[in-house]
Amino acid sequence: MSSAKSSSCLVLLLVLIYYLAALISFSHSLPLSTNKRWIVDEETGKRVKLVCAHWVGHLSPMLVEGLDKSPLNEIVSQFHDKGFNCVRLSYSTYLFTRYANQSAAETLAGLDLPEANVKAAIAKHNPWVLNMTHLEAYEAVVDALDKNGVMIIIDNHVIMPNWCCDRDDGNGFFGDRHFDPHEWLRGLDFVATHFKAKPHVIAVDLRNELRGARQNKHDWYEYMGKGARTIHEANPKVLVIISGLNFDSDFTFLKNKSLDLEQDLVRNKLVYEVHLYSFTGPAQQRWTIQPLNRICADTIESVKDQSAFLMSGENAAPLFVSEFGYDMRGLTPLDNNFVPCFTAYAAAADLDWSLWAFGGSYYERQGQIGLEEAYAVLDGTWKNYRDPNFTEKFQLLQRLVQGVYTSLSLSHTHARTHLPAEIKLFGTTNSKFSKPFELAQLTLSMRLSTLIFVHLEGFYTKFVQLLNLK
Ligand SMILES: *[C@@H]1O[C@H](CO)[C@@H](O)[C@H](O)[C@H]1NC(C)=O
Ligand SMILES: *[C@@H]1O[C@H](CO)[C@@H](O)[C@H](O)[C@H]1NC(C)=O
Ligand SMILES: *[C@@H]1O[C@H](CO)[C@@H](O)[C@H](O)[C@H]1NC(C)=O
Repeated sequence: MSSAKSSSCLVLLLVLIYYLAALISFSHSLPLSTNKRWIVDEETGKRVKLVCAHWVGHLSPMLVEGLDKSPLNEIVSQFHDKGFNCVRLSYSTYLFTRYANQSAAETLAGLDLPEANVKAAIAKHNPWVLNMTHLEAYEAVVDALDKNGVMIIIDNHVIMPNWCCDRDDGNGFFGDRHFDPHEWLRGLDFVATHFKAKPHVIAVDLRNELRGARQNKHDWYEYMGKGARTIHEANPKVLVIISGLNFDSDFTFLKNKSLDLEQDLVRNKLVYEVHLYSFTGPAQQRWTIQPLNRICADTIESVKDQSAFLMSGENAAPLFVSEFGYDMRGLTPLDNNFVPCFTAYAAAADLDWSLWAFGGSYYERQGQIGLEEAYAVLDGTWKNYRDPNFTEKFQLLQRLVQGVYTSLSLSHTHARTHLPAEIKLFGTTNSKFSKPFELAQLTLSMRLSTLIFVHLEGFYTKFVQLLNLK
């Protein structure tokens, strides 16, 4: 009884520390750097967690989506409002290498859109954009995010502006019909150089979802090496984000041979990225057929084998889940099973992540005008959540859970189920910080941790209930 009481006090203390740390976790300086598996504030060494959502800017109008729905500054302020500190902002290479000086209005006029409607809607909410060149319009978006303190990852999504990604769309791998590696490198050099003066541009990625019949390891090593060096030489301050093969799911080849890069880039700036959806991999139906615990455990094991292994060992580096997502209308049973499984893992490992997607509609996607994005945080108005339970599901995931170093672990057994439960305290050995522990993390079995991570409301009560501490 008395030991249960002291455990309760300890838990209460941990919860208090947790909220305190969560409050301060968004204040840091830039640029960012890496320390083993963590992304950190270069100046203080303190961890910075990337909590991002994707803003699409790589489709044929070559403008960020949503300018037909809401003024730029209102969209930008939605990122903080909805709990994000960061945006993954996509572009197509041609925007910078071929159409930088073409005006947005000219491009819209050349597209097979009900031009008058789209243009009129943009003119209503963002009249300034139509006479701008594509370069100026992209800069205006970066400026607005930068001024509002939203961190920006500049994402090379495609070469030719288009919806992504098919195995054979000619945009998938070096040497494909629309994928000239030299033009791609010029694009990387341009964005890394051009946005150098914007402190909130914290990262430049090499390429979204390499794929298709031509993909091979040999060219991966050659061009990813060149791409990483190109970005780092143009701007040594930004993080350089590297994607794998098979739609950005597979890095197993790095177990045999690492990417040959300069040590200061590898040690301080290199981040890997991975994508995961319910439909990733060969047998998506498994999410509704097999027992959930088993398919969840198998999926996480496969993530560990294919990418998460990069976070441990001698050359440990951060792994950024730069895309995952779900049908926010709740209409897809595969997703409804996948999301609690994946978010429990992502919260327990305290990964950096970016949700696909932020904005609720497209000017035009795959031939459909004004198509809504079911996977988006915002609905078609670009103002409200599409999933009414979003906050509850994402509160813990949006916070920083772990510090840089583990300090102490306590083990419990859950009284009712006899499943092992572990409380970890995380702190940092960096002498600049006086707090002995930054945070507490709870790990129960996959099912129980889902309960905790998904229902942060009543976090303390639920935790105590689960451990039968009262
Ligand atoms: C845009 O114009 C600038 C200035 O004239 C020029 O240096 C640049 O090469 C042009 N960019 C493209 C993609 O045509
Ligand atoms: C854009 O330029 C054209 C031609 O110079 C002009 O007629 C039009 O009013 C301008 N539109 C805006 C929104 O400034
Ligand atoms: C790693 O090397 C071993 C032995 O050379 C080989 O059998 C294996 O297929 C390689 N694995 C990958 C992922 O390249």
